[in-house]
Parts: sequence; C-alpha cells; structure tokens
Amino acid sequence: MNKFVAAGAVVLVGVGLYFAMQDPNADLKPAEFIMPDLSDLAKEGQVAFEGTCAACHGVNLDGTDNGPPLLHALYAKARHADFGFVMAVQRGSRAHHWRFGDMPAQPHITDEELEAIITYVRVVQAANGF
Ligand code: HEC
Repeated sequence: MNKFVAAGAVVLVGVGLYFAMQDPNADLKPAEFIMPDLSDLAKEGQVAFEGTCAACHGVNLDGTDNGPPLLHALYAKARHADFGFVMAVQRGSRAHHWRFGDMPAQPHITDEELEAIITYVRVVQAANGF
C-alpha cells in the first residue's frame, strides 16, 4: 500500500467516524427547549394543547412515541400553513410523513381553542428557531 492510499484510508475512516457520531435527529429538536412569554391567547392555547395534543406531540412539542414533534422544519409556518393545523384537527391526518399511524380528528376542539393552539404553537416554534 503506498502512502497516498494509506492517507486516503485514514481520511475515509475519519469522515466515516465523524458522520457516525452525528445524531441523525440532531436537526429535529433544539438542544434546549425555550418557552417564550405567552400572550393570553397563547396561554389558552397552551392549556388546550397540553390537554389534547401533548399526549402525542409532546408537552414541549418535541414528539412522543405516538406522534411527531411540531418543533420541526416540516411544520414551521413556511412549510405548513395554519390551515394545515385546522385540517389536521378537524379531519385528522393520514400517516404520510411518519410511522406513528394516522392522527385522529379532534372534534371536541372548538374553533376558539384551535385558534389559540395555533397561536401557541407558532410562538413556541418561533422561540425555538422554527
Ligand atoms: C393520538 C395522537 C395525536 C393527537 C392527540 C394529536 N395528533 Fe397531531 N398528529 C399525530 C400524528 C401521528 C401525526 C403525523 C401524521 C403523519 O404525517 O404521518 C400528526 C400530525 C399533525 C399535524 C400535521 C398534519 C399534516 O398535514 O401533515 C398537525 C398540524 C398536528 N398533528 C396538530 C395537532 C394538534 C394541534 C393536536 C391537538 C388538537 C393534535 N395534532 C393531536 C398524532 C396526534
């Protein structure tokens, strides 16, 4: 083996180790959850969110075994308009991005609660860089 091949092998192993050490979910969640100051409407949304959505989407919007994180680029406002929240809550959402199964509709959530939940999710997303 000449020294260029040997050096190439060392570099390849190094690059491989570097990627092996990267957490594949590193870009899914912020390192530290930031709870912003909440308006009254956002506080109402927090209560409704924690009462219904957190069971699957996590108290800190970071997901659970039953549902995906909402602190995720997929669900940031630029990618996922507020209307997407309305549809998901009123009609449910078929599993398409993840393997958690379908999201059931949440018909007990009123329009007022839904508006508050969206307000809450958006300020928490914004505070955490989404
Ligand atoms: C029983 C578990 C469960 C509950 C409760 C739940 N969700 Fe979901 N939700 C899911 C799952 C699972 C998905 C992902 C479906 C997929 O894309 O694979 C999802 C997806 C979503 C999406 C994205 C839909 C899309 O268009 O891709 C939004 C927005 C959402 N949920 C909001 C909410 C809100 C707001 C609540 C509370 C009112 C809530 N969810 C309650 C399980 C749940």
